[in-house]
Amino acid sequence: MNRLRYLTAGESHGKALIGILEGLPAGLEINIDGINKQLKRRQLGYGRGGRMKIESDRVEILSGVRFGKTIGTPVAARIENKDWENWKKRMSVANIPKPDLPEEISIPRPGHADLAGAIKFGFSDIRNVIERSSARETSIRTALSGFARQFLSEFGIVIGSHVVEIHSVKSGYVFNTDDIEIESINADKSQVRCLDKDTEDEMINAIDSAREKGDTVGGRIEIAASGLPVGLGSYTHWDRKLDGIIASAMMSIPAIKAVEIGAGIEYGRKFGSEMHDPILNSENGNISRGSNNSGGIEGGMTNGQPLVVRITMKPISSLITPLDSVDLKTGKSVKARFERSDVCAVPAASIVAEAVLSLVLADAFLEKFYGDNLEDIRKSYNGRRRL
Ligand SMILES: Cc1cc2nc3c(=O)[nH]c(=O)nc-3n(C[C@H](O)[C@H](O)[C@H](O)COP(=O)(O)O)c2cc1C
Repeated sequence: MNRLRYLTAGESHGKALIGILEGLPAGLEINIDGINKQLKRRQLGYGRGGRMKIESDRVEILSGVRFGKTIGTPVAARIENKDWENWKKRMSVANIPKPDLPEEISIPRPGHADLAGAIKFGFSDIRNVIERSSARETSIRTALSGFARQFLSEFGIVIGSHVVEIHSVKSGYVFNTDDIEIESINADKSQVRCLDKDTEDEMINAIDSAREKGDTVGGRIEIAASGLPVGLGSYTHWDRKLDGIIASAMMSIPAIKAVEIGAGIEYGRKFGSEMHDPILNSENGNISRGSNNSGGIEGGMTNGQPLVVRITMKPISSLITPLDSVDLKTGKSVKARFERSDVCAVPAASIVAEAVLSLVLADAFLEKFYGDNLEDIRKSYNGRRRL
């Protein structure tokens, strides 16, 4: 990210999660309730575990905003971990006497950062790995993305998502990219964020049946953005290509294992003549496209069509019926530990995916229409070349 940078800090059961977002223009009106709404959306979804019942995430803004508007300085934000009250001793920042130290965790869980993380950092206590590799970090990313989302909405850019698969249950719903706001509101009404009412119950059943078996499930999510101007990103160098930047951001979400732009893997199964989107003269003299298999990106740039991204989430790694593992202290074969966990977090991951996409798009937008304040950006944006 070039114009908009962010850093996050904080452990899953530490006192708080902290984020810093740098590069926002001055003069952007900030609606804190809007950010908290995004945090709430991330906490919901059928299949989530006990932790989300303890937390009720709310952002506290510590800098970068004055009288409700950004002032061009870094934004610092904080989300309190309510569960910290129960973990004060186990997560103590201060050193504590040896007899009081909590028992070390030495059994890594398959599918988690536990094994490689403990070896990499030389920890005898895997708790040090678990705390930061946890997806709890995505709450502060979602908070920071609230700023990006509000910036993008100034220019009519809307981002939404829905769940298209859970385990083997597929939704046939065709997302209306002309009305992402309404589609998203409707997806939020579903416990699994599925827009196909017939499929919704089947998805819920798939989660229930996994839970009954002590198992977990993953799925697939479609994320879309509309209102994007032509030419965000660039073909000129590998690290400026927007599809590459989006893929990297999506893969940074815990448990996301595949990213597709537009028709994605389907491209490999079809002829070129079937897939490429014809360039057409429309009646009003503007250029339009015959289809949108490219998902709104050609040559690493937005092409004026809606952006469509699909991602695949693996099944949750923590299993009530654990897989084989090895106790790193004794070297003995044992069953992995179970740590309180979701059975399915695909609906929540869809909100995180919207969040990371907002941050990427706000950065790409600022790269193209840069200005120190919102009005300068608006002037630059209004002078853009259109299709
Ligand atoms: C919103 C969200 C919630 C998650 N909740 C859990 C969970 O409760 N239990 C779990 O084992 N993994 C959960 N994960 C996934 C793990 O964090 C992830 O699989 C793990 O850190 C290993 O990273 P990797 O899958 O990217 O390799 C969640 C992921 C997301 C995006």
